[in-house]
Amino acid sequence: MVARVIPVDQFDLVIFGATGDLARRKILPGLYRRWREGQIPEGAAIIGAARTEMTREVFRSQVNDALQEFVPASELDAAIVTGFLNIIEYVTVDAKGDDGWDALGALMREETVRAFYFSVAPALFGELAQRLHLRGIADRNARIVVEKPFGKDLASARALNASLAAYFHEDQIYRIDHYLGKETVQNLMAVRFANILFEPLWNAQFVDHVQITVAETVGVGGRGEYYDNSGAMRDMVQNHLMQLLCLIAMEPPHCFEPDAMRDEKLKVIRALDPLPPSDLVRGQYRGGAGGDDYLAQSGNPDSRTESFIAMKLHVSNWRWKGTPFYLRTGKRLRARVSEIAITFKEPPHSIFGESNQWRENVLVIRLQPDEGMDLRVMIKEPGPGGMRLKDVALDMSFAEALGNDLDIPDAYERLIMDVIRGNQTLFMRGDEVEAAWAWVDPVIEAWETRGDRPEPYEPGSTGPEGALMLMHKDGRRWREIR
Ligand code: BG6
Repeated sequence: MVARVIPVDQFDLVIFGATGDLARRKILPGLYRRWREGQIPEGAAIIGAARTEMTREVFRSQVNDALQEFVPASELDAAIVTGFLNIIEYVTVDAKGDDGWDALGALMREETVRAFYFSVAPALFGELAQRLHLRGIADRNARIVVEKPFGKDLASARALNASLAAYFHEDQIYRIDHYLGKETVQNLMAVRFANILFEPLWNAQFVDHVQITVAETVGVGGRGEYYDNSGAMRDMVQNHLMQLLCLIAMEPPHCFEPDAMRDEKLKVIRALDPLPPSDLVRGQYRGGAGGDDYLAQSGNPDSRTESFIAMKLHVSNWRWKGTPFYLRTGKRLRARVSEIAITFKEPPHSIFGESNQWRENVLVIRLQPDEGMDLRVMIKEPGPGGMRLKDVALDMSFAEALGNDLDIPDAYERLIMDVIRGNQTLFMRGDEVEAAWAWVDPVIEAWETRGDRPEPYEPGSTGPEGALMLMHKDGRRWREIR
């Protein structure tokens, strides 16, 4: 089943940092796929901007190389690629100086949506914002898109927000968290708010606990230096996992509008209890064969940065008081799996007697791979011999249920198109980002003050022993990573 594609209005999109990794891997291939779907109008312009001197032709050929590398061959059609390359422009711009800005301004059309993607280091956000504004290239209708890391603590996030707010209004600023662009993450909202079934049970009275797992098989690879200054808490929890937590825990917004949604998410972050050290486990993959070792790959032999983190959180409000949320994420784990599992409580009374072991009802929302949902329910085991119960899966893979040719757009594709449409629902507001840092900061400060070292774990395992204990001591178990 091919999704219905709604074309968007004319736009000019400028990508600062157009020669960088993100542009090559995600932004340009994503735009190509939207072009192929007929969503980008003829006449729209995609303008690469970077420091490197080069002609438009050279840039187009670099874009072509990126498409050949990062778009599946089955989606590459020579005529469509040529058409796409024809809407690509290039301008050499000095983000910190005067060069190139007039040329950029001259390339842009009047009466058209202007979007500016800051695919550059955060230290340049303020510089770009200022120049776009002062040179009259970005007016009140322009939109800017910024990427994580959005700060490394509350103070730096505030400074970044202020540097953008000096020239742009909040409704012009699109802070990307690519997890919000994932199909199943949005499905989470559909499951909760488009069905009557779950919402009455969605609270501490019926939910025993929630698990959020984002496990990766990759290590820190070539990003060792960046990662070592960040760690799993800053790289994954402060943004992606926290956003997932918000979508599960938030109250129903009164409509699917940006601020209605973001107001509710913000309340969840503000309701998080401080995290005691006993509810936190940090790990580091160590000692794998062939240099498969965090210390070797980060280039920091004495690093205390975590490549794995697990924690138990409490959301102190009427809905959730008493239901723990267990979060974990890590690199070099056994399998790549991202999922949210809602485990419900036992029925109040069993009519089937002691011999029948009761298993929990669990709703699993699989974010990747094989996006889908799975609900574990108890049934009678078929056949004679009395009433034996068994738990089975009501399992739905979206690809199977909706057709194998289902074209699920990549998160970036969807988010960029939302920028052009002016829809901020799936973007983080400045106060959300700050609230998340306000919760994270004291946790990091505390482990730094204590001088904690992360617990080693084997590459390819499910993480450190301590993470298992975090749940065992509550009489619970993590779902398997496989
Ligand atoms: C990024 C992190 O934001 O998300 C990476 O910086 C991580 O460290 C990545 O690997 C995971 O994204 P995805 O979409 O592959 O789950």
